[in-house]
Amino acid sequence: MPEISPPKRRLVILISGRGSNMQALAQACRNEGWPAEVAAVIASKPEAAGLEWASHQGIPTAALYHKDYASREAFDAALAAEIDRYEPDYVILAGFMRVLTPGFVNHYAGRLVNIHPSLLPAFPGLHTHAQALATGVRVHGCTVHFVTPVLDHGPIIAQGCVPVLAGDTPESLAERVLAVEHRAFPAAVRWLAEGRVTLTSDHRVNVLGDPDRLFAWSPAA
Ligand code: GRF
Repeated sequence: MPEISPPKRRLVILISGRGSNMQALAQACRNEGWPAEVAAVIASKPEAAGLEWASHQGIPTAALYHKDYASREAFDAALAAEIDRYEPDYVILAGFMRVLTPGFVNHYAGRLVNIHPSLLPAFPGLHTHAQALATGVRVHGCTVHFVTPVLDHGPIIAQGCVPVLAGDTPESLAERVLAVEHRAFPAAVRWLAEGRVTLTSDHRVNVLGDPDRLFAWSPAA
């Protein structure tokens, strides 16, 4: 009898810029043979550099420009309509630099995942690396989490941690954090693709098989 493989989970990835996290996800999905496919990459601005890479890979792309819409609600409604054309199981925010309306977030409840460049709940919002340096923390990192209507908040799937080193600038710290983002994010999205991630009644994440969900930076990695 021919082997019947389960349908692949469909991922729609949203970006705003260079898209290095999107690339890490798409490459891991393909190279590691996840039971998933990147159905589309959608950008919040037409000039997002990551769009070109995605379209070279044969991934459908689209861009919406917020200035073309009268309100945040109108932009989010158009964005949701574009996303839903691809019937995603998960919508992945990979450096998507827009605050989303509660209506949008609720539409994708349990299916919307973000990466934030800090160890949440520390340093929500922008300029997280400068915030980390200003407060003098010795450890910094990134968080992959389900999105809720509260900005940079929501059940944590995985985290990556890096040391803050003497002489760090926001740029050098960002580079170190990005290296662990590129490990923690693909791991977390792979667990989603494999159907291993559930939410408990107290809004915490369970991952079947209980893998290590902390990714530590090391100079060699
Ligand atoms: C990443 O640091 C991400 O955590 C933050 O913006 C950056 C996006 O980088 N939200 P890229 O577009 O994935 O290269």
